Amino acid sequence: MAVNGAVVRNPDHWIDLARDRITLDGKPITTKRGIYILLYKPKGYLTTYRDPEHRPTVYDLVEDLGAWLAPVGRLDLDTSGLLLMTNDTAFADHVTSPAHLVSKTYQVKAATLLTDEQLERLRRGIELSDGATRPAEVRRLRDGAKHTFVEIVLTEGRNRQVRRMIEAAGSRVSKLVRTAIGPIRIGDLAIGKWRRLTEEEIAALGGRARQPAPATSNTSAARPAARTCSRARNKRIWSKS
Ligand code: URA
Repeated sequence: MAVNGAVVRNPDHWIDLARDRITLDGKPITTKRGIYILLYKPKGYLTTYRDPEHRPTVYDLVEDLGAWLAPVGRLDLDTSGLLLMTNDTAFADHVTSPAHLVSKTYQVKAATLLTDEQLERLRRGIELSDGATRPAEVRRLRDGAKHTFVEIVLTEGRNRQVRRMIEAAGSRVSKLVRTAIGPIRIGDLAIGKWRRLTEEEIAALGGRARQPAPATSNTSAARPAARTCSRARNKRIWSKS
């Protein structure tokens, strides 16, 4: 075995899998690395690999990164926003399991104005066909002439949960955008684009695996997102999603 071109015979020799080039009989040895990406899914794309009806899927937006990446949870066809994809099943299980309380943040444009009482029902937990929802953070963002915009933070991820909650509260969802998972926000990522998560972001979501250093993405503006959800960013979310 050679490490960075120098033959090593000592079995106790330490190597850094992230930096050292290891070869055996001149051939590089690679380890399976975790790949973690964040995609800004537009509406109209399915969170699935192949669709019998040939509709666009999230795989049309992500290039081949040399490993099979699975979506971490799902977003409905008509929902846009933050979708994580990875080849690390333990990480995906951690982020999606309701037991780990990883928050998912959504911005909702309701089809009607919502009263304080309706928001309070959403906050307390609301009865759905598969049981009452957990208490949620619900914040009125603003009221338009005919629509209320709210932010909802959930710690569970049931099928079409936000849409069903809003319906149970007596309204409908006109538009739904997932803006964050745990502390990871979409930030300035353009719609339809993706970027790799940083080591810090992977750790913040409870992952431990390491991935190769290059900060690959399909966007020139790829950078970790700021945590604040500014008025300008909200405006961008509602205008583009
Ligand atoms: N809740 C929904 O209703 N739809 C989604 O896509 C995600 C959460």
